[in-house]
Amino acid sequence: MRSHTTTLLALVAPAWAGLRFPCSTLTIQRLDPVVQPGSNPSGHVHHIVGGNAFNASMSGDVGERASCTTCQMSEDFSNYWTAHLYFKHPTNGSYHRVEPKPVMPALGGSNGAKGGLTVYYTQFDLSKDNVKTQHVKTFPPGFRMTVGNPQATSKQHLGLSYSCMSGNSRGRIISTMPETPCSAGIFTTHHFPPCWDGKNLDSPDHQSHMYNTVNSEGFTNASPCPASHPVRVPQVAFETVWDTTPFNSMWPAGTPNPFVWSYEGSSYGTHADYMFGWKGDSLQRAMDKSECFYDGCGSIKKQPMATANQCKVKDMVGETTTGWLKALPGRI
Ligand SMILES: *[C@@H]1O[C@H](CO)[C@@H](O)[C@H](O)[C@H]1NC(C)=O
Ligand SMILES: *[C@@H]1O[C@H](CO)[C@@H](O)[C@H](O)[C@H]1NC(C)=O
Repeated sequence: MRSHTTTLLALVAPAWAGLRFPCSTLTIQRLDPVVQPGSNPSGHVHHIVGGNAFNASMSGDVGERASCTTCQMSEDFSNYWTAHLYFKHPTNGSYHRVEPKPVMPALGGSNGAKGGLTVYYTQFDLSKDNVKTQHVKTFPPGFRMTVGNPQATSKQHLGLSYSCMSGNSRGRIISTMPETPCSAGIFTTHHFPPCWDGKNLDSPDHQSHMYNTVNSEGFTNASPCPASHPVRVPQVAFETVWDTTPFNSMWPAGTPNPFVWSYEGSSYGTHADYMFGWKGDSLQRAMDKSECFYDGCGSIKKQPMATANQCKVKDMVGETTTGWLKALPGRI
């Protein structure tokens, strides 16, 4: 089996450029300022990383309001979140939270991150000149979007995927949860669309202000942005590794996958939310660099993850989301 490093270099080096960095877990609670602004609690539990302006509702310039971030790039006060993964005990039906763990150093370095996920901002697809020559403009303050849909019962998007990790290998990319235990956890990926209508900070479904040209499971954007969504924005993606290993011994051989998202729908319902919050022009400066790879693009300040790990928000919901639970929070 190829190592993840080999796979990544083969896939990535000739194909794209951009930022990649770890963000530790900020908080795990039932809030969703994009889809259910103002609701405390929201419908299901989320795993949230990024800046401490995170709240039940968020408006204005997040990058100016936040004072710390769990991300390595210290000017990035954005928030990134997905549903949380749970284990559903196959015989007694109790649920237990599955903790995220940092992506291993072979994948670019977690540098002491705690839990969390890895964030990507792809500048452009170097394999396609038509895309490369399209200027990448970053998001304005107040911008937000989602990808995927918890109600989905069929494949939504090539950029929403799973893989079953063993050792350092990510394994085959699949569109539903793995059907056999994974010895090194379940890897989930959420890619957002790279084209924006240039006008709306959001839309009623949180998606129609964006257009997806992604035509592969990776970071390859297919074609220039269409006239309806003419502005090429960085392609945001996040990758989370869920440490499912403590539960593998409770998964009887030959029985269905026991891992569920916090909304307990189909695994096709995997989804993610993004709230832009870079300070000033910091992200634009990075995207203006020619073919920068990963490391701040030479213009973004980084902080030690030990500092990032101290950034927290308080529990605003006040409910138990971990330990053995009779029902998923909000799903009684
Ligand atoms: C969150 O929102 C509440 C209600 O508007 C407000 O009182 C609180 O200060 C906010 N917290 C942060 C960290 O912005
Ligand atoms: C289900 O099984 C787990 C693991 O053995 C146990 O800790 C939990 O208490 C059980 N739940 C119920 C409702 O019996």
